Amino acid sequence: MASKRRRGLFITFEGIDGSGKTTQIRRLARHLRSRGIPCLVTREPGGTRIANRIREILLSSKSTGMEPTTEVLLYFASRAENVAKIIRPALEKGTVVLCDRFTDASIAYQGYGRRLGTPIVRRLHEFACQGLNPDLTLVLEIDPHTSVERARSRNTRHRRDEGRIEQETLEFYRRVHRGYHMLARSEPRRVMLLPGEDKPAVVQLAIIKAVEPLLQKYRKKSGRRKRR
Ligand code: TYD
Repeated sequence: MASKRRRGLFITFEGIDGSGKTTQIRRLARHLRSRGIPCLVTREPGGTRIANRIREILLSSKSTGMEPTTEVLLYFASRAENVAKIIRPALEKGTVVLCDRFTDASIAYQGYGRRLGTPIVRRLHEFACQGLNPDLTLVLEIDPHTSVERARSRNTRHRRDEGRIEQETLEFYRRVHRGYHMLARSEPRRVMLLPGEDKPAVVQLAIIKAVEPLLQKYRKKSGRRKRR
């Protein structure tokens, strides 16, 4: 399978809405590039032309009333595009890929939030992502109350029509939050919970500390490749 040829590092960022992922991804990308590490940033839903069109359907407030089944299929349709066209090719070139959300978001939001359960989400993952799993997943934790407030004010501030999911209830966000906790408990080596309510510089330090052991392995491997 193609994943055997993988040489880069795949790091994903997760958290309930408004957890500060986007800021932290930008900071980590800057940090890596300043150390000469090739890195690519992508996000979900989105990442490619087609995936961005799917994003519009998913997040537009015009899409209210969407069936949970339709919703999960669209997230995976977007993900299949991103994996095939952006993520896998970059990993095969030895790049560090930072992705703003991945399958764990579907487990937390659709599996727990929409109560579709995890088995169906995992089956869709196998089909759409063909065995591609992150090397490390960092979940930025914030209180669901804070999440609802931050997400609503941001959507109003930016005047973007990306408010469909942000109209959800506090109870929905609590289930999503629980979903991330379950993931961290069931895969403690891959999924790390980090406090997301601290100052951005403090969160960044925690992220760098979490990523460092993987980077050391990555550098050893890429050093060996260069010497050949
Ligand atoms: P994102 O752009 O990461 O929003 P934010 O920066 O506000 O966290 O994600 C958009 C929304 O899509 C967000 O509410 C979470 C939701 N989502 C899912 O429900 N399932 C998924 O698989 C993904 C990737 C996102």
